[in-house]
Amino acid sequence: MKSVIITGAGSGLGKELALLFAKQGFHTILTGRTLDKLQSVEKEIHEAGGSAQSFSLDITILQEISSLMTQIQSHDLYGLINNAGVGHFGPLDHLGEQEIQDMLQTNVLGTIYMTQAVLPFFKEKNGGLLMNIISTAGLKGKVNESVYAASKFAVRGFTESLQKELENTNIKVKAVYMGGMDTPFWDESDHITNKSRLRSPEEVAVMILDNLDKESIVIESKK
Ligand SMILES: NC(=O)c1ccc[n+]([C@@H]2O[C@H](COP(=O)([O-])OP(=O)(O)OC[C@H]3O[C@@H](n4cnc5c(N)ncnc54)[C@H](OP(=O)(O)O)[C@@H]3O)[C@@H](O)[C@H]2O)c1
Repeated sequence: MKSVIITGAGSGLGKELALLFAKQGFHTILTGRTLDKLQSVEKEIHEAGGSAQSFSLDITILQEISSLMTQIQSHDLYGLINNAGVGHFGPLDHLGEQEIQDMLQTNVLGTIYMTQAVLPFFKEKNGGLLMNIISTAGLKGKVNESVYAASKFAVRGFTESLQKELENTNIKVKAVYMGGMDTPFWDESDHITNKSRLRSPEEVAVMILDNLDKESIVIESKK
């Protein structure tokens, strides 16, 4: 059975992508920092007849990534969905150092570390799917999103470069840019006032899988 690693699979879009990949017959490797959220997604997948396993993983910590790769080395690894991400919003001079580091370490370094860990597996069998969940904040700057947008522009540059670097291989690299989704991402934030324009993560996950033939998937917010 082919395996897909999903980062941040315990909530929001990661959870919905995990449910869909499991439905399509993949073994889903659910990762995130909070084990009980992952285990509840795992239970849901098992109850629906799918295959899943939970691993506690902080993508900013290299030792945790290498421990995960050791634990899954016998898997037929097909995909990595770099979905985990954090956002802190507001005027630049209001952002704390920890918030800035959080965004750059998780969104940028975490994505790069995970990709670097998985790529040798893909290269060995000349195949695989690498999907980076970015945001429309990786396409255009927005008020009160300066550092978040900087982190997502970085992931865009990383993804576009890998698309070129791997274009003569069977490793498919996808960039996904979506507008707002109604997920726990906004729980601690008042940045979004009108949640009616947000799509549900279920809807976005379906749209992503329906467009997997594209290198770049753009899903704008509802008008
Ligand atoms: N919601 C939106 O409006 C929106 C719009 C465009 C793009 N996005 C992007 O979509 C992705 C998914 O976000 P979401 O909306 O589904 O939010 P979410 O429900 O908050 O999901 C993010 C997940 O990432 C995990 N995570 C955070 N830091 C991590 C770390 N260091 N290591 C491992 N896992 C970590 C969190 O779990 P733990 O805390 O348990 O680790 C959480 O499950 C993010 O990349 C986000 O930037 C969101």
